[in-house]
Amino acid sequence: LSLGPLSEMADLIIVAPATANIIAKAACGIADDLVSTILLSSTAPKIVVPAMNTNMYLNPVTVENIKKLRTCGYLIMEPDVGLMACGTRGEGRFPEIERIYGFMMRNLPEKNSVFAGKNVVVATGGTIEDIDPVRCVTNRSSGKTGFSFAEEFIKRGADVTLVAGNVSDLLLDRFVKRYADVKIIRVRSVHDMKIELDKIKNDLDLLFMPAAPADYSPEYSDEKIKKTADVLELKLSRTSDILASIEKRNNAVYTGFAAESSELEASTRNKLLKKKLDFAIGNYIKGKQSAMGGDKSEVILLNKWDDSIDKFSYADKEEIASSVLDRMEDLIRKNFSGFLK
Ligand code: CTP
Repeated sequence: LSLGPLSEMADLIIVAPATANIIAKAACGIADDLVSTILLSSTAPKIVVPAMNTNMYLNPVTVENIKKLRTCGYLIMEPDVGLMACGTRGEGRFPEIERIYGFMMRNLPEKNSVFAGKNVVVATGGTIEDIDPVRCVTNRSSGKTGFSFAEEFIKRGADVTLVAGNVSDLLLDRFVKRYADVKIIRVRSVHDMKIELDKIKNDLDLLFMPAAPADYSPEYSDEKIKKTADVLELKLSRTSDILASIEKRNNAVYTGFAAESSELEASTRNKLLKKKLDFAIGNYIKGKQSAMGGDKSEVILLNKWDDSIDKFSYADKEEIASSVLDRMEDLIRKNFSGFLK
């Protein structure tokens, strides 16, 4: 590749790790190797992740160079503080890749989003309903859809709060590393989820709820149930429907999910109306392309303003989140001026 295509093809350039040397070159407009030449010739947004010996990082020359890069429009990420390769402790440690990814997501060049600056609450994951001190009832939800949409809202500049039920530890851990400043409220049962959402319901601009709260909860026994009966009958009672019962505020957007194994369109429409939602997203949870617990899904999007059905074919949940939010933005711009204020 010649320099032309290389410097023009990038939507974003990240220099990670950025040494004191490349920072100094970029700050002075020196172009004597591939990286410094691309930095000087490309108009793409640039992220620099300084990583170097603490004394080099704190040296006034480097401090000045970083300041200059900032004034030239570079986005500079703070390095970690900790044990350095040279055995000392201090500023300048190379951050974990997940943290760099999170920084990039927040700073990716995005068009003006209707979600920018909005308080978005994403409730995700299953719930755990206790039977006795050792046993419980739960479901297969991993929370993945919620994490993917939460990231997409963050990328669009929203202030996201995550209400996480029983989710995959791996996904949660990765999310925390990427977005250490995002508020995460952990809940266990449907009851807990309802209490936590009630506390924040008046401050939210958008409630997005791919959560899988249990529809029934067992009667709790304080004592561990002994293995005596041949057949054990559990008595389950209906839980409250959080999304249906939450007070809907003017100018806020409410989005629910419908997990269905048949009649996807009709059931999703039914939930949109019954739960008084602005949007309902339906996904199949049957067969090989089930959305439950996996990395991919195929969904439909219904809205309250018209009878259209938008279909999003089987793809990674990240890709689905991006396409669905693009479409939701169009529909909000067209139909919901109250949200845009
Ligand atoms: N939901 C909720 N509280 C519940 C159950 C579900 O708020 N106790 C929410 C889910 O987070 C989802 C939507 O309601 O956004 C629809 O969930 P789903 O399980 O598909 O539908 P249900 O209303 O529970 O109906 P059914 O299980 O009979 O299909």
